[in-house]
Formats: sequence, structure tokens, C-alpha cells
Amino acid sequence: MNSVDLIKTIEEFGCRPEHVSDHDAVRQINTQAFGGASEALLVDRLRGCPGSISLVATVADAVVGHILFTAATVVGKDTRVAGLGPMAVDPLRQRRGIGSAMVLRGLDECRRAGYGAVVVVGHAEYYPRFGFRRGSSFGLRCQFDVPDEVFMATELRPGVLSSGGELQYDPAFSQT
Ligand SMILES: CC(C)(COP(=O)(O)OP(=O)(O)OC[C@H]1O[C@@H](n2cnc3c(N)ncnc32)[C@H](O)[C@@H]1OP(=O)(O)O)[C@@H](O)C(=O)NCCC(=O)NCCS
Repeated sequence: MNSVDLIKTIEEFGCRPEHVSDHDAVRQINTQAFGGASEALLVDRLRGCPGSISLVATVADAVVGHILFTAATVVGKDTRVAGLGPMAVDPLRQRRGIGSAMVLRGLDECRRAGYGAVVVVGHAEYYPRFGFRRGSSFGLRCQFDVPDEVFMATELRPGVLSSGGELQYDPAFSQT
């Protein structure tokens, strides 16, 4: 039994697409998990972007986690790439496999939606367990000035990132 299955036997949780009625709970979880309102405001700005995928984790119908994917581009290429983030889990329920379940379900949804790869700017120790590795190892550069180890990518179709390039997130990321 892996850790996700183990915790599911202790407290059953699910993962589903976000509904409009979840927005307040998602705002609250992002604010609590990140210790401020910036990511909650970013999610409010991004969730309507074309190609976005927004999922929530639930326990007994209560929202306990959220993950967002938005469409990104590799400049000059037609590769369809999704950007993961922000993602957050209720601080009272972290380290129980909920974040992992949301990432894995999200990667499946991205594959189903036709994305060939997913990128993330995030914790360098967290995302490699899902197959992410440094973007630079694919020859990818992030539009944002971030340390090499926090910009990561994974191919959903082998080889789609092989020619590298500059990764640009949805312009809504840069609005203030
Ligand atoms: C990161 C986050 C979404 C993970 O959710 P979760 O439900 O706790 O994750 P899981 O239970 O699936 O996985 C737990 C693992 O994540 C690791 N982890 C959690 N936060 C981490 C962090 N900041 N850096 C590195 N690893 C982290 C834990 O060490 C644990 O590792 P282990 O299984 O080897 O012990 C959650 O901790 C969170 O909401 N953090 C605050 C917001 C945030 O940082 N979001 C991500 C931005 S990139």
C-alpha cells in the first residue's frame, strides 16, 4: 500500500473539478497555506484563463485542497504546455497524501486535455517524485528570474520538450 492509499483508509478524500461554489473555500485554503492573500488573488485572476484546469480535494464534501493548471507556451513552438500552480492544502491536513493525489490527478487531466508537458516553479524537493526534473535539463528557460532548481518540467508525451526554448506563462501571471 502506498502512502496515498494508506491515508485514504484513515480519512477518505476525493479530487474533482472546482465549482463556482468552491471559490470561497479555495481562497481561504490558499490564504492559510501561503500565509497571505497573494496566491488566493492570483488564483482568482487565473482560473478563467483559456485552457485552465482547476481541481479541488475534498473530505466529506468539504474542500481541503486546490490545484490550478494554466496554459503556457514555449516561444516559437506549438507544443501545448500546462503550468502547474498555485497549489495548496489546508495546513491541518498537509502531509497526508492530498497534495500528491491532486498532482497525479492533475497530470492525468492535462494529458486528457491534450497538453504534452507540464512545468512548475516550486519546491525542488517536492515535484521530482511526480517525474518533474529541472527545466534546464530540457533546455527550457523560465520567463521569470528564478533559481535553476525550482523551475521544473515533465513530459506527458516523450520528446515534446526536446528542442527546449523559453517558457512563457499566461500573461495574467504578470498582471498586478
Ligand atoms: C506543498 C503542499 C501543497 C503539499 O501538500 P501535502 O498534501 O502536504 O503533500 P503530500 O502529503 O502529498 O506530500 C507530503 C510531502 O511533501 C513534502 N513537502 C511539503 N511541503 C514541502 C515543501 N515546502 N518543500 C518540500 N517538500 C515539501 C513533505 O515533506 C512530504 O514529504 P515526504 O512524503 O517525503 O514526507 C502543501 O504542503 C502546501 O499547501 N504548502 C503550502 C503552500 C505551498 O507551498 N504550495 C506549493 C507551492 S510550489
